[in-house]
Amino acid sequence: MFLDANESPFNNGYNRYPDPRQKRLKSLLSPIKGVASENIFIGNGSDEAIDLIFRIFCEPGRSNAIAIAPSYGMYEVAADINDVEMRKVLLNEDFSLPIERLLEAADANSRLLFICSPNNPTGNAFAQEDILRLVKEFQGIVVVDEAYIDFSEKPGMLPILSEYPNLVVLQTLSKAWGMAGLRCGLAFASPDIIGYMNRVKYPYNINVATSAIAERLLTEPVPEHVKVLKEERKKLEKELARFPFIKKIFPSDANFLLVKVDDANDLYDYLIDNKIIVRNRDKVALCKGCLRITVGTPEENQHLLTTLSSYQPTTRQPDNPTT
Ligand SMILES: Cc1ncc(COP(=O)(O)O)c(C=O)c1O
Repeated sequence: MFLDANESPFNNGYNRYPDPRQKRLKSLLSPIKGVASENIFIGNGSDEAIDLIFRIFCEPGRSNAIAIAPSYGMYEVAADINDVEMRKVLLNEDFSLPIERLLEAADANSRLLFICSPNNPTGNAFAQEDILRLVKEFQGIVVVDEAYIDFSEKPGMLPILSEYPNLVVLQTLSKAWGMAGLRCGLAFASPDIIGYMNRVKYPYNINVATSAIAERLLTEPVPEHVKVLKEERKKLEKELARFPFIKKIFPSDANFLLVKVDDANDLYDYLIDNKIIVRNRDKVALCKGCLRITVGTPEENQHLLTTLSSYQPTTRQPDNPTT
């Protein structure tokens, strides 16, 4: 009899609080990821893990964090909310890691370094030896965000996690596993770091419904859909290259393509008019003229290509620099 937690005693499947340590879900994830349960944190999306990492390792108004740019926007949002200075270091022109500049950006108050690999929005995964050099030389926590790693042929950092106590790897069930609506993010790190995350998080951060559905869906080591999306990515890359208004398609290790076009704003508006929403990255550093296109179902991708084949660029007035 559970008469301790002031829950409703009437069983409807949801009347009890969830397991605050998510033991069952972790025991399912452990063999899939090749990582012991004590090295796994489960959060309300990986965004929760990002915020917790700031709260645990940074001192507001004093610490700073470093991140590659362009990259996922939540690192900076979490830094701002936690009153932590964010130092953004531009990738090299070819989107490779600026190792020396990242290390030079650090000082005695640098606590965190964020590397997103495969990177959003550039799509490329970085060489493991480059990331490793940063893990070895940076005097703080290195967070490697592998939200898109299941779409990459490159190895992630999990196989060497236990060798590096300052390494935190983020993954998520939102992408390859198709559970964005459930909010289930993962962090992998030393038992010490996972212990801090568990103590700082809200006790019941993963609800009963999310746990139950995730447990049901985590039956295959790599979801079948990943294979389909990787094939579609290849097809889309080849077909998009035929359009004269598409100037460059950047190689992708993720479930999206970054595409440089003649006039990103014009094409973006055209696609919206045709009820197709992509992400306009024109204003993002190193991504001038670029759209980020998520790989859809085979039918959606075909519809995108058909729609693009009717695109007639409009002659736009150049932006007035005085307004
Ligand atoms: C690089 C990266 N990390 C993390 C996330 C967020 O993942 P989650 O849905 O687990 O919060 C995203 C979402 O787009 C992302 O692009």
